[in-house]
Amino acid sequence: MAEGLPLRVVDIYAGYGKLEILHGVNMYAEPGELVAIVGPNGSGKSTLLKTIMGFTSIYRGKIIIGDKDMTRTPPNKKPYHGVTYVPQVNNVFPSLSVEENLKIAGLVLRDTGKLKRKMEEVFDMFPVLRERRRQKAGTLSGGERQMLAIGRALMMEPRLMLLDEPTAALSPKVAEEVFRTIVQIAKSGITVVLVEQNAKRALEISDRGYIMVQGQVIYEGPSSEILSHPELGKLYLGLLK
Ligand SMILES: Nc1ncnc2c1ncn2[C@@H]1O[C@H](COP(=O)(O)OP(=O)(O)O)[C@@H](O)[C@H]1O
Ligand SMILES: [Mg+2]
Repeated sequence: MAEGLPLRVVDIYAGYGKLEILHGVNMYAEPGELVAIVGPNGSGKSTLLKTIMGFTSIYRGKIIIGDKDMTRTPPNKKPYHGVTYVPQVNNVFPSLSVEENLKIAGLVLRDTGKLKRKMEEVFDMFPVLRERRRQKAGTLSGGERQMLAIGRALMMEPRLMLLDEPTAALSPKVAEEVFRTIVQIAKSGITVVLVEQNAKRALEISDRGYIMVQGQVIYEGPSSEILSHPELGKLYLGLLK
């Protein structure tokens, strides 16, 4: 079992340059919890993940991961603290092979033996990547590429994983496979924060959810509660009841 890290986002104001996008966001995730962030396009979901990772300008508030204040920890240092991020796009190196993509991610481990074992674990999780290990990542299907991106994150022995729309542009069947994997990752003890366009499925598989609208959290609670709420889904998530 992985020892998941707790995450605390405390009253965060953040954005790009002088453009404030997040206006006082609070959220948390407990070790091994699967937390979904949903909400309309442009509401700041990706910006929240980027802020946790350290890619935005933070004007106020704190990001606490484990027992450390990581508000000012740069993105490239985060993996060494067990924090990994799978961005929505550009999450693999297209001109490198599947194996090379995994190897580069695994450099964070600073241990060749461990790197090899991790890679076998990733191949066990995604057998199709083993088959395609010598193939360039750019030639993979959308689903395979997303699996490789998640595999790259797993290579770093994460204790907190941030996923930005891992099922966007995938067929329902392949998306389901990716959702199953994400559930498995959280079950293994890793804390997972999942941003999703597919609010319904994200809420069905997660423990708790946050609805973001215009840079703020407008509702948080057990995912089942959000799903069964008489109005929230219809108002903000395009869910029909
Ligand atoms: N790099 C950027 N520079 C300036 N504004 C940005 C940048 N990225 C996103 N934004 C703006 O931030 C707001 C929130 O975007 P985003 O976090 O991507 O929303 P979501 O992921 O919920 O669709 C949008 O108004 C978007 O235009
Ligand atoms: Mg987004």
